[in-house]
Amino acid sequence: MYRSHTCGELRMENVGNTVTLAGWVQRSRDLGGMTFVDLRDRYGITQLAFNMEVNAELCEQARKLGREFVIQVTGTVIERSSKNRNMSTGEIEINVNEIKILNAAKLPPFTIEDDTDGGDEIRMQYRYLDLRRNPVLEKLRLRNRVSLETRKYLDAKDFLDVETPVLIKSTPEGARDFVVPSRMNEGQFYALPQSPQTFKQLLMVSGFDRYYQIVKCFRDEDLRADRQPEFTQIDCEMAFVEQNDILDMFEGLIKHLFAEVRGVNFEGAFPRMSYAEAMERYGSDKPDIRFGMEFVDVTALAQQKDFVVFNSSEIVLGINAVGCSEYTRKQLDEITDWVKRPQIGAKGLVYVKYNLDGTFKSSVDKFYDESDLKAMAEKAGANPGDLILLLSGETGKTRKQLNELRLFMGAQLGLRNPNEFAPLWVYDFPLLEWDENSERFHAMHHPFTSPKPEDLHLIHTEPGKVRANAYDLAMNGVELGGGSIRIHDRELQSRMFDLLGFTKEEAQAQFGFLMSAFEYGAPPHGGLAFGLDRLVATMGGSESIRDYIAFPKNNSGRDTMIDAPSPLNDAQLKELGIKLS
Ligand code: AMO
Repeated sequence: MYRSHTCGELRMENVGNTVTLAGWVQRSRDLGGMTFVDLRDRYGITQLAFNMEVNAELCEQARKLGREFVIQVTGTVIERSSKNRNMSTGEIEINVNEIKILNAAKLPPFTIEDDTDGGDEIRMQYRYLDLRRNPVLEKLRLRNRVSLETRKYLDAKDFLDVETPVLIKSTPEGARDFVVPSRMNEGQFYALPQSPQTFKQLLMVSGFDRYYQIVKCFRDEDLRADRQPEFTQIDCEMAFVEQNDILDMFEGLIKHLFAEVRGVNFEGAFPRMSYAEAMERYGSDKPDIRFGMEFVDVTALAQQKDFVVFNSSEIVLGINAVGCSEYTRKQLDEITDWVKRPQIGAKGLVYVKYNLDGTFKSSVDKFYDESDLKAMAEKAGANPGDLILLLSGETGKTRKQLNELRLFMGAQLGLRNPNEFAPLWVYDFPLLEWDENSERFHAMHHPFTSPKPEDLHLIHTEPGKVRANAYDLAMNGVELGGGSIRIHDRELQSRMFDLLGFTKEEAQAQFGFLMSAFEYGAPPHGGLAFGLDRLVATMGGSESIRDYIAFPKNNSGRDTMIDAPSPLNDAQLKELGIKLS
């Protein structure tokens, strides 16, 4: 037996017991007559005490212990003279009478404590050491709880957990595929699933009725704080359902998770908003509704004067930053530079200060007098003390830019409290999205999403206006999940592929199996998938998903710890029939 207790377990009621503990040396403090060692394992930290007067030899041994040595100690639990109320074991310590070094350790490249001196890169390279740190461990504990509670909820609702293959054929979710060469089929490649989309639909054809899987998905796309090349979905599908059945079922899941794991109880139903409304009010399909600062359209007012920039714009939109009229020139210049960065792409920013004394000051005073500015301020619902920020241009781009500015200002003003959770269902997404690069329409969600029957008549004349039975769950400005009611009719699916520019042959080669399955009795069905990493990170109050993944990749898609990806040797390439240029 290596240990009788863990390092997080002993309390006052154990005083007098003889115990054996095993763990890592967090640090030791030599106070002359006494030496204290903090012994750590996954469960906590227990203080070990060594008294020079009682056992000098043992005390000497303790002094020599390096950080991260793995040791085993036996001793008696005693009450501490100076208690540490911040530690669960802080009332006791172990009066050690035996130490065994189980393994020595090199000095770690960063300190393994809650506040580490290790930068991001070094912590990722030695992720196994980083994972010893409590804040990181806590995040993975949270993830574990979320997965477990997800399984409990879905199991209770009769969902079957079914595994689907990883070596498959491309499923279009809008990203590039990661591909795997097949040795046995030279010159041919598997694709790793961007999601199990087609398989879960086939399971509905098989009559499984309710499916779920906590599953790895792979997408070769540019990475961001909330994107990893391999990530995990809570992937679900249901047969014989309409959109509301799905929203209700998975709203139930999210409520269950927040209640069980975070102790947060949402009151009433989650708000729901159409895509069109979300774009108009927030310029985003995943608005952060923890705060207001909604868009105000001042186009008509702004275009009454000779300001060419506004007059030549399709739209002039503003937000009201409450209480910011006293922003300095420097602060306003900083915001202007921020929106002009290439990532945001605004040409400039116009401000209107509604001063506390009721006067106005604007960057376009030349063109607008007090009454013009007052009219804009009124339209924006501003009061003395507020600051209105205006952007203009083409509608889609201006909305996008102002959305970024709104989020930026929200953060600056402390309106994005990580411990507040604001879910929002966004529905009626457009079916298609125009892609400027390829100059054709793409499926906004994926090609299996059903159009709204009432919009079908527009499909050839105004395809961009056709709405889909597609929905997302947004929370705090993050897209947590999304799904749709699927097409289950072979003819309609085939027309859809047509519309997306697939030739009959291409559609047959890529999705023949699905269309053929639709000929054998496909039930009406639909589903959704949550991004588990994003869900857990949001629940943990963080925007970056990386810390919630045990072994994540960096922004270039590399795992610096195992050094992947890496080249293949010539023999491997030859076996796969691959020549590198
Ligand atoms: P979608 O493409 O919207 O839908 O993905 C579902 C959810 O997965 C998460 N997600 C990601 N998380 C981390 N890194 C990524 N690279 C990444 N990409 C997506 C998001 C997203 O909302 N098959 C459909 C679902 C369906 O229709 O049922 C699908 O995959 O949180």
